[in-house]
Amino acid sequence: MQAKITLAKTAGFCFGVNRAVNMLYDLINKGENICTLGPIIHNPQVINDLNNKGVSILDDINNATKDKKVVIRTHGVEKDVLEYCNFNCLDYIDATCPFVKKIHKIVDKNSSIDMPVLIAGDKNHPEVVGIKSYCSGDCYIFNSYEELDEIFKNNKFNSEKPFIVVSQTTFSIKEWKKCVKKINLLYTNAIIFDTICSATEERQAEALLLSKKNDAMIIIGGRTSSNTAKLKAVCEPNCPTYLIETAKELLDIAFC
Ligand code: F3S
Repeated sequence: MQAKITLAKTAGFCFGVNRAVNMLYDLINKGENICTLGPIIHNPQVINDLNNKGVSILDDINNATKDKKVVIRTHGVEKDVLEYCNFNCLDYIDATCPFVKKIHKIVDKNSSIDMPVLIAGDKNHPEVVGIKSYCSGDCYIFNSYEELDEIFKNNKFNSEKPFIVVSQTTFSIKEWKKCVKKINLLYTNAIIFDTICSATEERQAEALLLSKKNDAMIIIGGRTSSNTAKLKAVCEPNCPTYLIETAKELLDIAFC
């Protein structure tokens, strides 16, 4: 019997990644000498193609040279990296996703010594590192309901002092809802900005639905991508879920 394969409607690059990748290919077509600050996306196949077209990856902005245009990736960078680029008159293009930029603006405008920030996300992820750099006062990062609980136990949040809550654009919706419920239960003075990207929300919702209706799920994406990791986590409890980067990897899966 032939297996029925359903392609998710939300499959493919999200708006932000698509925008950044198109920007890069436009620059390549114009014959520009380019490098990206870190890999532009978590997709080794695209990175290889870009590499073959002469796009190099810069690991540190301090190593940038004036003969190459620097492209800043969708995750965004720390505030002082942009300041460094401007101060040193580096030629750069900021391909930070507009949804990430919006979080930078929220935090930049609203945080202060008297207005701490809580960020839902992975403290080591470049997007979260970038968001944190816009905080003017205290900043606390949690990746789960349990970690949020720990922060509340150990820090002096109280009902007199307001605070801001934002999230990494790819944070788990399920975990976010649990955390928001807890925050609202404990504090009436929290200013909560739901900054999970709608692309993330739609993908996770569709993946969840499909994983409940199908015998197996294949997630195609980079192994180091936060988005693909979250999709795998959403599907896994419902059916066998495989994360692959290339078609060749399908041969190693024993579908039964
Ligand atoms: Fe993509 Fe931007 Fe959302 S990079 S996942 S559209 S935050």
